[in-house]
Amino acid sequence: MKKKSIILIICLIVVPIFSSIRDTSNWVKVKEANKNTIINFRLGLRQKNLDILESTLLDVSNPKSINYGKWWSSDEIMDLIEPSVDDIKIVISYLLENGCFNIENHRDMVKASANVDDIEKMFNVKMATFSHKVKNQFIVRSSESYSVPREIKSLVHIVTGVSELPHYNTGPKSHKININERQESIEKGADPGLIIPYTLQKLYGIPIGMGNDSASSVCVVEFEDYASFNKEDLFEFAAATATPHINVDHIIGPFEPYAPGGEATLDVQYAGSISEGASVWFWTVDGWMFEFATDFFNTPVIPDVVSMSYGWPEPGQCDRFIAHCVDEDAEQYVQRVNIEFQKIGLRGTTLLAASGDQGAPGDSNMDCKSHKHPLSTSFPGASPWVTSVGATMLAEKPSTDSEDPYQYSAPICNKKKCATSTEELVCTYPQSLITTGGGFSNYSPMPSYQQKAVNDYFNSGVKFPNSTFFNSSNRAFPDISALGHNYFILAAGADQVIDGTSCSSPVLAGIISLLNGYRISVGKPPLGFINPLLYQLYEDNPAAYNDIEKGNNYCTEHCCAETGFESAKGYDAVTGLGTPVYQEFLNYIQTLN
Ligand SMILES: *[C@@H]1O[C@H](CO)[C@@H](O)[C@H](O)[C@H]1NC(C)=O
Ligand SMILES: *[C@@H]1O[C@H](CO)[C@@H](O)[C@H](O)[C@H]1NC(C)=O
Ligand SMILES: *[C@@H]1O[C@H](CO)[C@@H](O)[C@H](O)[C@H]1NC(C)=O
Repeated sequence: MKKKSIILIICLIVVPIFSSIRDTSNWVKVKEANKNTIINFRLGLRQKNLDILESTLLDVSNPKSINYGKWWSSDEIMDLIEPSVDDIKIVISYLLENGCFNIENHRDMVKASANVDDIEKMFNVKMATFSHKVKNQFIVRSSESYSVPREIKSLVHIVTGVSELPHYNTGPKSHKININERQESIEKGADPGLIIPYTLQKLYGIPIGMGNDSASSVCVVEFEDYASFNKEDLFEFAAATATPHINVDHIIGPFEPYAPGGEATLDVQYAGSISEGASVWFWTVDGWMFEFATDFFNTPVIPDVVSMSYGWPEPGQCDRFIAHCVDEDAEQYVQRVNIEFQKIGLRGTTLLAASGDQGAPGDSNMDCKSHKHPLSTSFPGASPWVTSVGATMLAEKPSTDSEDPYQYSAPICNKKKCATSTEELVCTYPQSLITTGGGFSNYSPMPSYQQKAVNDYFNSGVKFPNSTFFNSSNRAFPDISALGHNYFILAAGADQVIDGTSCSSPVLAGIISLLNGYRISVGKPPLGFINPLLYQLYEDNPAAYNDIEKGNNYCTEHCCAETGFESAKGYDAVTGLGTPVYQEFLNYIQTLN
């Protein structure tokens, strides 16, 4: 009874922000497209030597390999995988002959523009203007799937910009704390208290004042081209939490600072404060993973760590009109983006992705009622080529325990209760507004780096869902976790509280950026694709992780289902290997090339 009313209060004042709603149905066709409208599109060309790309990445990221840390340049990577010069010429000639212009040759990807008339002829589609029910936005796309022109069919892997409609987070955007209501719930002892950067630094043993190297870099990516943070908020956040001012020194893509969003603000405030003096990049994407990954790879100077707090189910990656989404298209999209992620990994950049906020049921089973598809995954969170980050939360501490492990001095902690517990649990509804995502990829086979850990999980004795509902030979996620409940942020001048794996991913990004700062200071390359290291470290020294051994991810943001994954000792598809113990990570990294 008591718990129920408290939960209600928290729900009213805290809004999860993981942007994962499948909202293609919000697009409605309003009219035929104007024939002169210009469409910008991309052709992903078929690459070669992909087996070598993968084995090379696994070799240079393996801490036991003599090649550890020997990342490749983008030219070396392209020399390995690009199609033949003749094949690229055939594609470009075809585009020129069919009215395309602004053609950019990126060796395994071609960007081009054409008017609607030419697009319709080339890709055998009918273009229309679509309007978004919620966002007052128009876009021109086809209402059916494209066909690759016969003349270039054998050379083209995928086409983007013609058929797919963008996904937007249509959830509420306001996250203001109502101080009185919140204070009431805190007084009832129902709240673990606010998480601020200092909570994370103390809990994970992250040194303060050591990250003074602006040669280290961290990037947060927003897949909403209107996403932004407000620079004024950063000064107020620094003052409220007693952290150094965050220096966002690279802004890439469209940026509208007058309407700061919760997701973007959270990403900047936590990746920035945890990484301390690192150079912070803010990157907005007009498009989805293929657009981001190809643009990122094709940028000459790139940041060393990237955090992505967006995702939706792997089989939904091709959603245009739901009726036209076929699984093969989605699988092809996932596989192509995975190759693009491998290229970025081999350049020496760490990609992190939130594991999802709807537990094992995922966005395909948000109401917990599906018996046919009780489990679903999140992409890119289920990609073997990103570090998938799940969420934990702090236990509520009995108010009788007077010892304060944190000794806060940040001004915000005088105004509101900051966290007092150090005991981490699986982040789950209903104590949290979200449940950490985890499970097994629909499409990607299990990578070698996690086979031992996942085998041990299967042999741990915990209960698993019916084997018909997940593919146990595939990639298990997440890899690692960090707190994801009750984060304090300052957005649009207001105190707000946020839950989500969206919190966990930028925190991990900040930690890896600090470790990179150490690597840079001793003249070593950055950590790059870090998954093989994470599992090897666990094997060599399990004490490098705070293991969350109990709990499960049966719930979503709204309800609890009958099945899902259970935590276990060691690796599990709920919190991965656990949360990081910074000093143990640093000790290990000091032994590496
Ligand atoms: C900068 O960081 C290094 C280690 O990374 C540390 O030895 C040094 O004391 C720091 N300097 C300042 C001014 O904090
Ligand atoms: C499991 O996924 C793999 C791809 O990793 C696929 O080859 C296999 O057919 C899938 N198994 C089932 C039962 O769907
Ligand atoms: C697993 O699911 C299948 C298909 O829904 C069903 O036939 C089977 O009885 C289930 N097995 C168990 C052990 O529940």
